[in-house]
Amino acid sequence: MEKENIVKDGTLRSFGRLANRMSKDEQAALDRTLDKHSITLDEAKTLKDDNPETEILIEVGCGKGEQIIHRAKNNPNNLYIACEVFKNSLEKIAKEIEAHDLKNLKLFYEDARILLENIQEDAVDTVMVLYPDPWPKTKHKKRRIVNQELLDLTHRIIKPEGKLILATDITDYALWMIKHVLNHGKFHTIAQYPNEWCIEPDGWHTTSYEQKARKFGRSSWYLQFAKQEQEKQFTKASQAHLNRLQEENN
Ligand SMILES: C[S@@+](CC[C@H](N)C(=O)[O-])C[C@H]1O[C@@H](n2cnc3c(N)ncnc32)[C@H](O)[C@@H]1O
Repeated sequence: MEKENIVKDGTLRSFGRLANRMSKDEQAALDRTLDKHSITLDEAKTLKDDNPETEILIEVGCGKGEQIIHRAKNNPNNLYIACEVFKNSLEKIAKEIEAHDLKNLKLFYEDARILLENIQEDAVDTVMVLYPDPWPKTKHKKRRIVNQELLDLTHRIIKPEGKLILATDITDYALWMIKHVLNHGKFHTIAQYPNEWCIEPDGWHTTSYEQKARKFGRSSWYLQFAKQEQEKQFTKASQAHLNRLQEENN
């Protein structure tokens, strides 16, 4: 396995580019801008203690941040953390933070999993992963960010009954997400009926990748799960529905 594809202890890279080409000076200037608005790992370690009354939402792989910026502007009392490895996208978010004086939106510009590992238990209300890189080739699927490791990390930091929100326009990935989350056993689906998986979650704002999907005529899956403490068996009805979806998409 190529060394640069491993983030840490065997965790695979779930992303492509880290930044556009730039000079060392440009890079240093960009880092200075991002640092001004970033959450540090030390702050992550005391997030819950420092914000006991605040609703906290983390977005993993926020791209240009349309969704999280919209939420931060509309909910000034909540705290939002936008994680993205591609620094040029974060630069745009930093400009929005400055233009609108958004004190409730923080950035994290390394692998989001490093931040999640450092956050206190039961500290966060919602984690969102929207339109993650699909890694469609069979040999690349192991790079998909929605996997057992991410589910363990999010389950630990989400408050009881807090939410995990996933979205994708790729049916194969949607089925992968549903299967992995339900096999994980410590989340339950918020949807009562599977057709709710095509309804946008509350407070939704479209993202670049969602718009791209719509342009190509692809609709999206919006999968919302809540954290539960006890492992629960997937109900027979849900399992039968999932089996049917998988058969239809084979
Ligand atoms: C396909 S884009 C979607 C961006 C955005 N959510 C949207 O809907 O427009 C996926 C993004 O996730 C980022 N990403 C992938 N793995 C990541 C990780 N481990 N930590 C932080 N960002 C990651 C990629 O750099 C990329 O910008």
